[in-house]
Amino acid sequence: MDGAVRRYIHTPVLPDEVLAYLQCSQGGVFVDATVGEGGHTEAILNASPHNKVIGIDCDREIIERAQDRLTQYGERMTLIHDDFVHLPHILRERGIEGVDGLLFDLGISSFHFEEEKRGFGFHRDGPLDMRMDTRQKLTAYDIVNHFPLKEIETILRRYGEERWAKRITKAIGQERQRGNIKNTGALAEIVSRAIPSKHHPRRIHPATKTFLALRIAVNEELKKLEEILNDAPPLLTKGGRIGIIAFHSLEDRIVKETFKKMGSACICPPDLPQCICGGRQQVLQIITKHPLTPRAEEVSNNPRARSAKLRVAERV
Ligand SMILES: C[S@@+](CC[C@H](N)C(=O)[O-])C[C@H]1O[C@@H](n2cnc3c(N)ncnc32)[C@H](O)[C@@H]1O
Repeated sequence: MDGAVRRYIHTPVLPDEVLAYLQCSQGGVFVDATVGEGGHTEAILNASPHNKVIGIDCDREIIERAQDRLTQYGERMTLIHDDFVHLPHILRERGIEGVDGLLFDLGISSFHFEEEKRGFGFHRDGPLDMRMDTRQKLTAYDIVNHFPLKEIETILRRYGEERWAKRITKAIGQERQRGNIKNTGALAEIVSRAIPSKHHPRRIHPATKTFLALRIAVNEELKKLEEILNDAPPLLTKGGRIGIIAFHSLEDRIVKETFKKMGSACICPPDLPQCICGGRQQVLQIITKHPLTPRAEEVSNNPRARSAKLRVAERV
């Protein structure tokens, strides 16, 4: 860092709610599975001198920034560059049988949006990349230029809930005949032109849903979320809590449905005369009946928080 003061770009969302609902003042071992620039981790470490945090992130560049911020906490903090789907293995390898809190703050960080070379944003031109983990091969460029158009349309419809998916895909196909689409700026322009201007959304850029859809596809975000949610409960001690902050409805639906399934002993419809689900065991108790959302003051200080939803459950 050459002695310079580093500026942290990302403001952690729902920080007070995370500390309160994960019971961070009691002292314990926590996993911040999406450590990013370390905002939540720092808050957890400050909440009790007895807290330890294992922070995970699949992005090497961002974890280096967290390292810088958190070195002062010494052995109370461990940072690991890995994918959170490997959490069961990460804990097993360290001989940790259960943790007191697990936090997932999903998606990408403001840092990613601001680094145009990572290709997540459309406000400044950058390469069509969108990988969180740059060790992986597949990029947004590969999808946009080489995937069958039908598959691109499905991605836009499924992950972006984009009603103009067909028109956008057709425009991408036409552009592909002229040459490859290389940059975020070019793609944003193609998408904007494909959507009739009278249907351009007022508050967001017309390419927002397309970019979200591609990002989800490149990083397999929903698949990984489902996988880790299914694996997570046994990683908690009894009474340990899991908190997940989601930023769009597809993520939140997965969290809600999984908590519901794990929060009930039997998942058969109540009108069924006999249990057919094999007598499931309840593994989680839902703590937040409705998701927690940021107060107006937080949203006005940090507009990115506006769509955040935190759901918390406890291991029974
Ligand atoms: C919203 S940011 C977290 C911000 C952080 N809570 C803070 O306060 O600075 C999400 C982070 O999760 C990371 N991430 C997303 N999916 C991941 C995955 N499957 N495994 C590990 N890290 C992931 C991203 O690289 C990003 O840095």
